[in-house]
Amino acid sequence: MQLLWPSASPDADLAGLYRTPQEPWLRLNFVSSLDGAGHVDGKSEPLSGPADKRVFGVLRMLCDALLVGAGTVREENYHALRLDEKRRAWRVEHGMSEYPTLVIVSARCDLDPRHRVFAEAPVRPIVVTRSHASPGPLAEVADIVSAGSDEVDLAAAVAQLRARGLRQILSEGGPRLFGSLTAAGLVDELCLTLSPLLAGPGADRITTGAPLDGPQSLTLRHVLLDEGLLLLRYSR
Ligand SMILES: NC(=O)c1ccc[n+]([C@@H]2O[C@H](COP(=O)([O-])OP(=O)(O)OC[C@H]3O[C@@H](n4cnc5c(N)ncnc54)[C@H](OP(=O)(O)O)[C@@H]3O)[C@@H](O)[C@H]2O)c1
Repeated sequence: MQLLWPSASPDADLAGLYRTPQEPWLRLNFVSSLDGAGHVDGKSEPLSGPADKRVFGVLRMLCDALLVGAGTVREENYHALRLDEKRRAWRVEHGMSEYPTLVIVSARCDLDPRHRVFAEAPVRPIVVTRSHASPGPLAEVADIVSAGSDEVDLAAAVAQLRARGLRQILSEGGPRLFGSLTAAGLVDELCLTLSPLLAGPGADRITTGAPLDGPQSLTLRHVLLDEGLLLLRYSR
């Protein structure tokens, strides 16, 4: 994978390029078509490529918690959060736990406790919900974090995750969670892969929800290129 900017290098050091600051950090990772689609037929896989998957794995290696919306878990039939041996060894060498913790946001708690994200999880996941929800049997397979009463209060939820030591948070979406995190002013960074595809009209963007009060600006940190995919890192 080639680093194009801020300097040029034919073989980028991904772990170094994507290291986060020491402070608590929340980063989003998304892939989009050139014409702005966040999925093809409900899945993000057709937009991805080997380079995107490599960065995806590196970002998971670097986080304490992987935050994902229940819609993405259901639509994409998410896998349990696993990492290969090399990445687990890297984490342990760098003073981190062997695996990050998967955190699923669900207001309704409409998730099957037998789903593989729970059944095959190497560490007990967390379900973030609101106090008016009834987690029922989910409480047997996950820790339940309640934030907000009628709706999930994401700022309060993130504060609770940080209090548990989960300071470096990676979110893989989906669009509704991204919209809510942006509205709550919680997004420190966006890693965006632009896939060289025209998906055509119809598909949703990578963000959705109520309009913001105003746009939020981010600064470009680096640009990587691999087989026509552009991998962009922007942060506050
Ligand atoms: N291009 C990409 O990189 C990318 C990445 C991820 C996903 N996707 C695509 O996105 C689609 C799924 O989108 P989505 O928007 O339904 O998924 P989502 O953002 O993953 O999940 C939305 C769900 O999150 C829960 N939620 C609870 N409180 C929330 C809050 N305050 N803000 C936001 N969400 C909250 C709700 O779950 P309950 O309904 O259980 O209450 C809500 O239905 C799939 O087609 C997937 O392929 C694309």
